Amino acid sequence: MRKGSSSNGARAVTLIPGDGIGPEVIAAAVAVIEHTGVKLRWDEQIAGMTAFKRAGNPVPEALLKSLRATGVALKGPLETRVGEGYRSINVYLRKTFNLYANLRPVRSFQGVHTPFRDVDLVVVRENTEDLYAGLEHQITPGVVESIKVITARASRRIARFAFEYARREGRRCVTAIHKANIMKLSDGLFLKCAREVSSAFPELRYEEQIVDAACMRLVTDPQAFDVLLLENLYGDIVSDLCAGLVGGLGVVPGANYGDKGAIFEAVHGTAPDIAGKGLANPIAAILSGAMLLEYLGHQQAARRIRNATGEVLQSGNTLTRDLGGSATTRQMTDAIIAAMGPRTSSAADRA
Ligand code: NAI
Repeated sequence: MRKGSSSNGARAVTLIPGDGIGPEVIAAAVAVIEHTGVKLRWDEQIAGMTAFKRAGNPVPEALLKSLRATGVALKGPLETRVGEGYRSINVYLRKTFNLYANLRPVRSFQGVHTPFRDVDLVVVRENTEDLYAGLEHQITPGVVESIKVITARASRRIARFAFEYARREGRRCVTAIHKANIMKLSDGLFLKCAREVSSAFPELRYEEQIVDAACMRLVTDPQAFDVLLLENLYGDIVSDLCAGLVGGLGVVPGANYGDKGAIFEAVHGTAPDIAGKGLANPIAAILSGAMLLEYLGHQQAARRIRNATGEVLQSGNTLTRDLGGSATTRQMTDAIIAAMGPRTSSAADRA
């Protein structure tokens, strides 16, 4: 993936509406981004079940070509059938474009009622290996093997990403989460690499916790955590748990970063139970859009989106059903756009 811009100067970004609620929440994110005045040229591409049904291929060549050209994407969720069908396109894209770091900021919002207050943590998940390497086979009927791959190279790389992020963002602590008491070799190697990397960041506290104990602590004392560093599987599971601390999957954004590109997407999936009904909470996709703007250098536009989202949630007047309200996706999007104030007409807001 490499960064590209179109002939009229607008930055080209691959837009993947995705499956299920994807097209609804991605349309909301695009409307909000466009309201900032930042000029982007969206190169819309199908993927996942939508592409499989339309073109017989869940990862069309046109999608890969677009990603190679733009180097950056805003993506909706993609359907992956449980226990059958094609392999996860998300995993495929992250591996193909070497988007090794998955970053998910999890923050409490005033106005969103949960049993937890003042949660402010960041999940950093390794994205390319672990049990997600897809190495599964049947040894004999009734016996299957799934191989967990952990390498020093990928472990050091994700640890460095987490510590550098923590340093840049003025965070205080990185907690490596593991099960090295049982998986002594694989998780042991992950921990060894995290420890090595931590020594280059003396101003940051480094802690280790076993994943089961960490889950218990997350739901009893979430404020004890700052930056969480996890392998792929634990990171996937703990991300959803953390989303639950701050109001659910509808409000947590995410990004997959590599050295040469990034794909921005919410933590949530296609939500088939509410797809097509206009009920989805667009905030996770909208905040993923803010992360994309930040990545492209538009810090002020990103802040404007975050502030407006915070205001709408705090007022409590326009909340989608998952947050206890009755607003539609469209109503919530319109409320955020209204809170942003008048549309900015140029991209001259680079901070
Ligand atoms: P899910 O995240 O789609 O849904 C879990 C629950 O959260 C559902 O009750 C849903 O209605 C609710 N929910 C999720 N997002 C919401 C939103 N924005 N607003 C309001 N409610 C929301 O997870 P599930 O059901 O496990 O997966 C469904 C499909 O999504 C599967 O095919 C899975 O593979 C795929 N998936 C794709 C992801 C991606 O493309 N990054 C990530 C996670 C799942």
